[in-house]
Amino acid sequence: MKSRALITGASTGIGYAYAKHLSKEGWILDLISENAERSMKSKDALNNPVANFYLADLSKKSSIKEIISNYETPDLIVANAGIAINGSIGKLSESQKEDAYYLMCGGIIDLIEGFAPKMIKKGTGRIVIISSIGAITAMPKSSIYSSAKAGIYMYGKSISAELENKGISVTVSLPGYVETEAHKKAGLDHLKSKVPNWMWISADNVVKQTEKASKKGKSEVIPGIVYKLTKPFLKFSAAINIWRLITKKN
Ligand SMILES: NC(=O)c1ccc[n+]([C@@H]2O[C@H](COP(=O)([O-])OP(=O)(O)OC[C@H]3O[C@@H](n4cnc5c(N)ncnc54)[C@H](OP(=O)(O)O)[C@@H]3O)[C@@H](O)[C@H]2O)c1
Repeated sequence: MKSRALITGASTGIGYAYAKHLSKEGWILDLISENAERSMKSKDALNNPVANFYLADLSKKSSIKEIISNYETPDLIVANAGIAINGSIGKLSESQKEDAYYLMCGGIIDLIEGFAPKMIKKGTGRIVIISSIGAITAMPKSSIYSSAKAGIYMYGKSISAELENKGISVTVSLPGYVETEAHKKAGLDHLKSKVPNWMWISADNVVKQTEKASKKGKSEVIPGIVYKLTKPFLKFSAAINIWRLITKKN
């Protein structure tokens, strides 16, 4: 029987690259995103008869509840949907903060906890969480983003240890700068020219390295050699100052 994957945020970027990768391997796909136009575009481009496209706002609790009640239990969950956030302290509204936290942290926890009992019962399955390198380094003016990513990073690491004897692997991926539309959507297009080329990695490469780590049962992966090498230095204030410099608007 064919394996089934559920990917959130599959219309563009890393999620779409994941859908492409799994399509080639013959997976049945349940793909969720919010914007109808982008979803249709990816449906046409993917051209996979066993890929189902759904629309849902994953920053809302009701959407996650509906998915858990109505979708088939996946063999692989890729919790990827997310946004970049451009907002210094006090600049985001209550609802912007709540939605971002639910989309990139609370909602992922609800989604995984909704399916986990059935996956455990099957005794097999994989869970992949796309967090960010921002989970393990301070990001001034993106504190809501990095704190949501840090929360889901630790949740993923914890359940990875909890589920390893139950046949379920959990892998948290921590990409750095990835060539997607995420920054442009958040009004951060200046990053394309400010951040040096060698710091960017393709979405396809993120997927390749994340899948490899997930199949090996690793709890964490940092895609890209640059980020792997710099990981030990990310906690130092010099790293924060360099980050501030290269991400400054002008
Ligand atoms: N790009 C980077 O540099 C980078 C670095 C580290 C981590 N990440 C993480 O990687 C993940 C994917 O981002 P990306 O770079 O591939 O960006 P992207 O191309 O903008 O893709 C984001 C995906 O998430 C979906 N999404 C956003 N808000 C949603 C909502 N409320 N409900 C349902 N779907 C929603 C989008 O769907 P619609 O088309 O419907 O909006 C889209 O499919 C995110 O979690 C992001 O934080 C990205």
